[in-house]
Amino acid sequence: MTSLRFLLNGSISPATDLRSSFRLENGECGGGRVKACLNLEVRAPDLGKNVGFGGLSKEVMEAEGKVLVGTYARVPVVLSSGKGCKLYDVEGREYLDLTAGIAVNALGYGDPDWMKAVMEQACKLTHVSNVFYSIPQVKLAKLLVACSFADRVFFSNSGTEANEAAIKFARKFQRFSHPDEKQPAMEFIAFSHSFHGRTMEYGNIQAARELIQSGRIAAVFVEPIQGEGGIYSATKEFLQSLRSACDEAGALLVFDEVQCGLGRTGYLWAYEAYGVVPDMMTLAKPLAGGLPIGAVLMTERIAAAINAGDHGSTFAGGPLVCNAAIAVLDKISNPGFLTSVSKKGKYFKDLLMQKLRGSSHVKEIRGLGLIIGIELDVPASPLVDACRNSGLLVLTAGKGNVVRLVPPLIISEQELDRAAEILFECMPVLDESK
Ligand SMILES: Cc1ncc(COP(=O)(O)O)c(C=O)c1O
Repeated sequence: MTSLRFLLNGSISPATDLRSSFRLENGECGGGRVKACLNLEVRAPDLGKNVGFGGLSKEVMEAEGKVLVGTYARVPVVLSSGKGCKLYDVEGREYLDLTAGIAVNALGYGDPDWMKAVMEQACKLTHVSNVFYSIPQVKLAKLLVACSFADRVFFSNSGTEANEAAIKFARKFQRFSHPDEKQPAMEFIAFSHSFHGRTMEYGNIQAARELIQSGRIAAVFVEPIQGEGGIYSATKEFLQSLRSACDEAGALLVFDEVQCGLGRTGYLWAYEAYGVVPDMMTLAKPLAGGLPIGAVLMTERIAAAINAGDHGSTFAGGPLVCNAAIAVLDKISNPGFLTSVSKKGKYFKDLLMQKLRGSSHVKEIRGLGLIIGIELDVPASPLVDACRNSGLLVLTAGKGNVVRLVPPLIISEQELDRAAEILFECMPVLDESK
């Protein structure tokens, strides 16, 4: 502990430390790696934005191409450290980050309370498996139950695992609630543009109602605000209709809040923005502030159908991730924090509308809080690339025609001004790429 504290208090030059840690090829764990990961007091050398890709970046990218399975079309940036809403690459270039590790790093980089929670727990106990009880897991579950509709929590390691667990729980619930039925409801509905599944068109109330009423549907999965799909918000009427159709047919309503939950909309949970309460809710991305976690929150009547041995995970809900998540939840659930997200979201959306409305390529600017999409009439990638070259990191969504803005929730208005300015300055690239 003493030596880690000592390292954390030093100021760090990301470029030099990362170079040495990258070269640690024989499994050594050097101080450089620890320093680079923890991001305290990062001072980036001001190399300007015109530094070409060479040196360490090039080395890392080439090595990646040889030893990693090619599942990712990565952007050519090798990141080494971060502070607040800024990221630094190995050559010391600074980027304003509106990606947050795909809506994960809600507290940005180097939040002192998150780091304290991680450091203290890492020094005490990291992993025990679910064979044993541990205090952080129970404490986190109590907090989640206290601040949501749910009575109980199941932990997983990712959003996909959370949704898979919810599928299993829904089927178990239907079997449990209809013990005499030979064929209890086992099917699911999901919607177009959603992360998981796409049975029918998002927003089509009539079609959804008809299928739910067939009696075959165990559960309906829906994102109140779709992230990857292109930042589409459900209407209140749509979610209310799903709620009533599920109630009438005995199907469960599951909200996938993996991307839109936990403060991103300015509400702690996106369902609060609609006044429609689900039976289960899946969470992941921001919950542990950058460490892998997922969770399924549910009512008692569903949990009553689940028994020991029905589902499980070796890593899920370990003391380290749970202690980190407690720090995240503590901060984000503060009403003042949520108000600031709403205020900044509105400020940013208004600013973008004002600045970008003159562009013929902008079809719509939409979203709630700090999950905002700019739909274009052309592919967004030239704009995303131009922004990156100007020091701004943004994502695409939808069919690649939506710029997705999901910054750390701690971003300042000045940083949002800067982001809007860079987006505005880079817009002409869309004319060139036509
Ligand atoms: C709404 C939604 N659900 C589920 C997932 C899957 O989460 P993970 O990548 O953690 O498995 C994602 C990932 O982007 C998502 O956006």
